[in-house]
Amino acid sequence: MKKIGILTSGGDAPGMNAAIRAVVRSACSQGMEVAGIQRGFRGLIDDQIESMDMRSVSDIVQRGGTMLKTARCLEFKTPEGQARGAEIIEKHGIEGVVVIGGDGSFHGAEVLTKMGIPSIGIPGTIDNDLAYTEFTLGFDTACNTCLDAINKIRDTINSHERVSIVSVMGRHCGDLALYSGITGGAEVILVPEVEWDIEHVVRRLTDSQSRGKRSGIIVMAEGCGDPYELEHALSEASDFSVRTTVLGHTQRGGSPTMADRLLATRCGVRAVDLLRANTGNRVIGIRHNELIDLDISEALAMPKVFDKELYRISKLVSR
Ligand code: ADP
Ligand code: F6P
Repeated sequence: MKKIGILTSGGDAPGMNAAIRAVVRSACSQGMEVAGIQRGFRGLIDDQIESMDMRSVSDIVQRGGTMLKTARCLEFKTPEGQARGAEIIEKHGIEGVVVIGGDGSFHGAEVLTKMGIPSIGIPGTIDNDLAYTEFTLGFDTACNTCLDAINKIRDTINSHERVSIVSVMGRHCGDLALYSGITGGAEVILVPEVEWDIEHVVRRLTDSQSRGKRSGIIVMAEGCGDPYELEHALSEASDFSVRTTVLGHTQRGGSPTMADRLLATRCGVRAVDLLRANTGNRVIGIRHNELIDLDISEALAMPKVFDKELYRISKLVSR
């Protein structure tokens, strides 16, 4: 393969830039050309493509976001949009494509492969909602952003002896809440994978107060509903003074952690290795610190399994 394309798609995630850098540097080092496709599948359809070289990716390893920009593009879900995308790829002489994004973007990569353009997926999403890999790019950084906020909130709620609800992202997946909650010492962690109700929350907070705690943090995954409704219900059902913080898009930005940069770099190099061997329709991930690659359709069909053991541990150590 002489020329490959690369794009980022869906929600951005810290570490995407490090992955772009690894793909470009590894490909160029091995005599391949790289075409940077701007704004995901939107930019592909609109022919927003620029040639990249080693220097195009200087000074980005430490930056959040994505230098290639990203977008959500409904048109690429239609046969017409897909045919247009394939046409543009052919026009530029691109023989394989690296797609960095989440499960939606991987469906796009699957479509490209089915149209005869070998494509490789690199998991980039703060949600960690892909079943086949233990971690996705951006998840570690987003957890650390949540932790930083939880630490600061803890200072003020300790002083005021309050309860604080910290709402974190993750779409339908509770991992961001679980991992940041357990490491941030949250008294209560609410995730969409585990049933809960207001009585359960009040009981856990009351129990922790009976053991001498004077404040409490509830980390709530966005997939559990509206945190302000919980604040209202909690204020009605108890004497706690409750405040809510929605961390929002702060979780999507920031300089990637070492873990995210390393994973991104390993994935980027593996993607180029696969395309050099003319292998497509694979997604790259990590299990037990070993890089893996799997058939896209197989990976997308796997159900995400919630880590019940980690959830059990969180309940034991938050007392
Ligand atoms: P993520 O990749 O983070 O899960 P989305 O679900 O928004 O984000 O998907 C990103 C983009 O991937 C979509 O806007 C669309 O361009 C493309 N995509 C998603 N699903 C499909 C599909 N079934 N077929 C083709 N392209 C798709
Ligand atoms: O998929 C990443 C994510 O940040 C989710 O956690 C969140 O639900 C969603 O994207 C927010 O999307 P937008 O940036 O379009 O508001």
